[in-house]
Amino acid sequence: MSRILFATSEAHPLIKTGGLADVAGALPIALQNLGCDIRIVLPAYGDVLERYKSLETVAEFYLPGTAGKIILRATQLSDSTVKVLLVDHPAAFARKGNPYVDEHGEPWPDNAERFTLFCKVIQLIALDQVQLDWKPDLVHCNDWQSALVPALLKQIPSAPPSLFTIHNLAYQGLFPQSTFNTLGLAPALWAPHALEFHGHLSFIKGGLVFADRINTVSTQYAKEIQTPELGYGLEGLLQHRQHVLSGIVNGIDGAVWNPQTDTLISQNYSSTTLSKKKVNKLALQKLYKLPANKDALLLGFVGRLVEQKGIDLIIELLKTIEDLPIQFCLLGTGDKQYQQTLTKIAKQNPNQVGVNIGYNEKLAHQIEAGVDVFLMPSRFEPCGLNQLYSLRYGTVPIVHNVGGLADTVIDTTPETIKNNTATGFVFNQPTIEALRQSVDQALEIYTKSRTWQKLMKNGMKAQFTWEKSAKEYLNLYHEILKAQSTRQYTSYQNYQFNGRTGF
Ligand code: ADP
Ligand code: GLC
Repeated sequence: MSRILFATSEAHPLIKTGGLADVAGALPIALQNLGCDIRIVLPAYGDVLERYKSLETVAEFYLPGTAGKIILRATQLSDSTVKVLLVDHPAAFARKGNPYVDEHGEPWPDNAERFTLFCKVIQLIALDQVQLDWKPDLVHCNDWQSALVPALLKQIPSAPPSLFTIHNLAYQGLFPQSTFNTLGLAPALWAPHALEFHGHLSFIKGGLVFADRINTVSTQYAKEIQTPELGYGLEGLLQHRQHVLSGIVNGIDGAVWNPQTDTLISQNYSSTTLSKKKVNKLALQKLYKLPANKDALLLGFVGRLVEQKGIDLIIELLKTIEDLPIQFCLLGTGDKQYQQTLTKIAKQNPNQVGVNIGYNEKLAHQIEAGVDVFLMPSRFEPCGLNQLYSLRYGTVPIVHNVGGLADTVIDTTPETIKNNTATGFVFNQPTIEALRQSVDQALEIYTKSRTWQKLMKNGMKAQFTWEKSAKEYLNLYHEILKAQSTRQYTSYQNYQFNGRTGF
């Protein structure tokens, strides 16, 4: 049985800002079901400590260069027996609110220090130096917040190997050189073939350069990040490492996202009782104070209001719907500018547009269940979970042909209607014209009830389960462990000599 340490900066239901939390809240359980001995390691944020009062203390220790004791506390993930280790260091993590940004949306000024501490603790756990009496065979790191771990591990001959998963290359953990100098990291790591990126410290390069394998959350995104368009200057490094880079699409947590059992929605339904979905539509219209109208095409969006998600395209679209039988409801938080513009549009057109600025787990479920169409015009999307939830809820997604959206939604054409594979509408250019064309197509097909039902049912049949994806992760773990046992230890010095400059 492989022992896996799963490092993440968020995990549902403990703490969530986006899809990483959904992944970290479900994939470890699926891996445990496949026989892994898996433990999650997560910072003990203020909000987590407040909600989980009776936590067991499993270790206490000091970290060189860090003032104050570090306490490792433990809990379990949801109803499972997957253990979650919480890194409790009040100065770094006790503050309440978002894990990464303050109440004004600005990154916490000490993020580099906070997540370096997190990574150093993960390193100690990985080396079994905190008296847990448990040494992982492999450390699975996710996104920049735990990306220094592969770099730290590679400096130690007896350390386990690592996998680094890129959930979003746009977030890299970049900090000035002056910050690097204060973090107590090996000076040799300040190099273009290590953590330096154009004069800055790049956390994510720790994963991209030093992990034994790298994966991202869809096959298409794994290709896209090797191009200048979506590589953010890291495409050269990713091309260099393409032999260890792959894609595994995310799954759906069926215990949380299932229209048959979802306790957060007004009316449960399945693919055989689809007419009941309308109850959720009417409830949602009421919630958003939109006129009750079964026949209007109700569009929805849930997500972070950031450029990635193509919010500008949604705003442009909303300016053109006045004469159409369309309604729209949105739930999200993010950039102030988007929040203000969307709120203004809703005020100007309250019969068609409803906007809720905020984070609301229950409402997210109600939108998935209540709308006819889910919009995801993302400019890029590593995987995307909402289109998967939409498919599961018989809600037809309209998506831009990128990343995980391209991998998971099948466009509606005469052929895909005929062979029962069509699940949504996929447009190729991130332009208002292309989005509008898909919306027009959806409007037209919506009036053909039988074809629309087909789309809903095809989507509900799609199998994006964590069990399937977890099997792929397990294979990847086995490949890493096999390679590790047959290969001589690759020291950090080897990386220096083999490394290319200019990454
Ligand atoms: P990303 O990770 O880029 O934000 P994903 O589609 O992978 O995008 O995952 C987003 C997750 O966060 C989904 O579960 C979505 O429902 C949830 N989510 C995003 N914004 C909100 C919000 N304002 N309220 C409730 N849930 C939200
Ligand atoms: C990121 C991506 C999103 C992905 C999620 C979970 O936040 O933006 O596309 O679904 O991570 O992997």
